[in-house]
Amino acid sequence: MMSTFYIGGGNGVALVEGALLNMGWKRIVDKHDERYKLKWVECKSKINYQSFREGEQLVNHIPNCHLLTNKLGLVNSLQEYERVTLTTKGRPPRLKMSDILPETYKLDDKNDRESFLNTYKDGEMWICKPTGMNQGKGIFLLRSQQEIDKLLLERDEKQQQRKTSRPLMSRIVQRYIHNPLLLDGRKFDIRAYMLIASTTPYLVVYHKGYVRLSCMPYDGDDTNLTTHLTNQYIQKKDPNYKDVKEDTAWSMDKFNDYINEKVAPEKNLEPNWVYNYLTKQMQRMMLHCFNSVKHKLQCKMGYFDLYGLDFMVDTDMKVWMIEINVNPALSTNCEALKDVIPSVVEDAI
Ligand SMILES: Nc1ncnc2c1ncn2[C@@H]1O[C@H](COP(=O)(O)OP(=O)(O)O)[C@@H](O)[C@H]1O
Ligand SMILES: [Mg+2]
Repeated sequence: MMSTFYIGGGNGVALVEGALLNMGWKRIVDKHDERYKLKWVECKSKINYQSFREGEQLVNHIPNCHLLTNKLGLVNSLQEYERVTLTTKGRPPRLKMSDILPETYKLDDKNDRESFLNTYKDGEMWICKPTGMNQGKGIFLLRSQQEIDKLLLERDEKQQQRKTSRPLMSRIVQRYIHNPLLLDGRKFDIRAYMLIASTTPYLVVYHKGYVRLSCMPYDGDDTNLTTHLTNQYIQKKDPNYKDVKEDTAWSMDKFNDYINEKVAPEKNLEPNWVYNYLTKQMQRMMLHCFNSVKHKLQCKMGYFDLYGLDFMVDTDMKVWMIEINVNPALSTNCEALKDVIPSVVEDAI
C-alpha cells in the first residue's frame, strides 16, 4: 500500500509536502483519518497519541517536549540535571547551567524571586519573558528597582484577583546580555536546529542555521524593543524592514567571513572561528540540554521532533543559549534562508 501523510497548519507545508511527494508518498487531507504513515503538524494537540501505532507511524512531536521548549521547562530541566548529577556522580555536569543560559530566575517561585531580588542591583537591565510564548511576544525589559517593585506588586495584585480562576502565565527574569557582539553595528542572534530523529533508540542531529539581525544599529539605552529583540516577527514591525529585509538574515558562511575579516584580528580568534569554535559550543550546549531530559522524554518508535535553537554571542566571544523552540519557522522569505530551510526539512524527512 502507498505511504500516506497528513500535514496541518501553514508552517513549511510546501517543503514537507515536496520532500514526501518526491519519495512517492501520497498526501491525505482528512485530519481525522488515522491511517496516515506520517503526520506533520504545528501543534501537538493535533496528534491523537492514544491511537498512535508505534513502529508503523511517524509523528513530528514528542508529547512532553515542553521539558525543553518551554522557557520554564528548560530552566527546570537544567537545574534538576545539575542537582541529580551532583548527587549521583559527586561532581557537576561538564557544562554548568550558568555557562549555558544567562542567569535566570522564575518570577513566580517564592525562593527564586527572593534570590533575584537579592541579586539585582539598581540600574541593571534584565529581560522579563512569559514562559510559554514566542516571537518576542510579551517580553519587556526591566531597568530599575522601581520598575521591578512595580511589576511584582502588579503581579501579586492580579494573582490575588484571579485566586479562583486560572493563574497568570508564568514569567522568568533573565540577566540581559548588555554587551552583545554586533555585526555592522547591529544586534543578532543565531538560529540553529536540533532534530531528534528517533527516540528509540535516540538519534539526535545538529543542523546549521543562520543569523538573524535587527534592522537598526544597536543602542543599549534605546527603549524601543525592536532594538533589543532580534526575532523576525519583531523586526518586521520596523518601518525600515522592507528596505533592509535581505540584510536581516545572513548565512553562516557570510557570518564566518565577517568574523574572519572584522572580528578575528582584534579578538585574536582562530581562523574560521564560527565553524571551529562557535558551532562546537552550540553543539555541546544542545547535547547538554538533550541529556538533561533524555530519561524523561516520552519515547516511542516513530516520535521525532525538530527544534529551533536560539544563541547569542557577547563581546567576550562567550556563546549563550537563549531558548529552544518547538515548531521553528520554516518560511524562506529571505534569500539567505533559501539555502538553509529546505535542507533542514529534507534532512529531517
Ligand atoms: N538575556 C538576553 N539578553 C539580551 N537579549 C536577549 C536575551 N534574551 C533574549 N534576548 C533577545 O530577545 C529575543 C527573544 O527572546 P527569546 O528568549 O528567544 O523569546 P521568544 O520565545 O519570544 O523568541 C532574542 O531573539 C534576543 O534577540
Ligand atoms: Mg526566540
